[in-house]
Amino acid sequence: SQTDSYFRDVRIGVIGGTGLYTLDGLTVKEEVTPVTPWGEPSGPITIAETARGHQIAFLARHGPSHSVLPSEVNYRANIAALKAVGVQVILAFSAVGSLREEVRPGDFVLIDQVIDRTKGVRGDSFFTGTGVTAHASFGEPISALLRDLVAKHDSAVPEITVHASGTAVCMEGPAFSTRAESNLYRSWGASVINMTCIPESKLAREAEITYALVCMATDYDAWRESEEPVTVAEVMKTMKVNAANARTLLLDVLPELETAVYSPGVCALTKPETGSMQYAFQ
Ligand code: ADE
Repeated sequence: SQTDSYFRDVRIGVIGGTGLYTLDGLTVKEEVTPVTPWGEPSGPITIAETARGHQIAFLARHGPSHSVLPSEVNYRANIAALKAVGVQVILAFSAVGSLREEVRPGDFVLIDQVIDRTKGVRGDSFFTGTGVTAHASFGEPISALLRDLVAKHDSAVPEITVHASGTAVCMEGPAFSTRAESNLYRSWGASVINMTCIPESKLAREAEITYALVCMATDYDAWRESEEPVTVAEVMKTMKVNAANARTLLLDVLPELETAVYSPGVCALTKPETGSMQYAFQ
């Protein structure tokens, strides 16, 4: 197909969110920008070698200099570009607002559920316009195996709490929520809010890529009566610390993930969670 020439058998993909634009501790080997049937990704995919000599593919969701708004990210191109280089497992990171007292700014949440509050303006399916009728199962939007694997490494970042589950609301943005909306999402039981996990997680599922998301809390959103609603300045301040913790957590997770994904034979982590999607990529 159109993207064959980009294939490098790089099986692990990392998507960096707001504040996480590069990775340290890895040796950069190559940058590739696959041109996919959906266009180009937000920026080049950096292929880097880990301490163990495996390769991973890193993509900054909003571009290397954060120039792409959540509503304008070409999510299909991002996922298709990672798929093109060979990615079978994506560990993504995202800055989020906290909807719970116990999720303090700086904490991480390994979400297991998502509520879609985007406005239907994002390209959110690989099947749109293809004439292919396919429906991905999305009842469990996040890979429990990958989430558990990450959760096991929470001691790498002892100064924060890594919450082992939670529901994320994905809103359209770019303006943050009103206090009433923030309270509504709390009443729905959500833990965190961001602007990107839909359609990213959905497209990963359609592409049969195992996906988990590390949500990095930067603020208390707008619900807390005792505080001013979230501002960009607040988000930026916490983000620096979050990015450092994200890198530390990732470097701790990688060896176990590499062992799983690069061992010969069948790997439970890369077994597709749906059965009928692959023909869209042939
Ligand atoms: N990303 C970081 N903080 C956020 C918030 N409060 N709402 C939506 N997205 C966010």
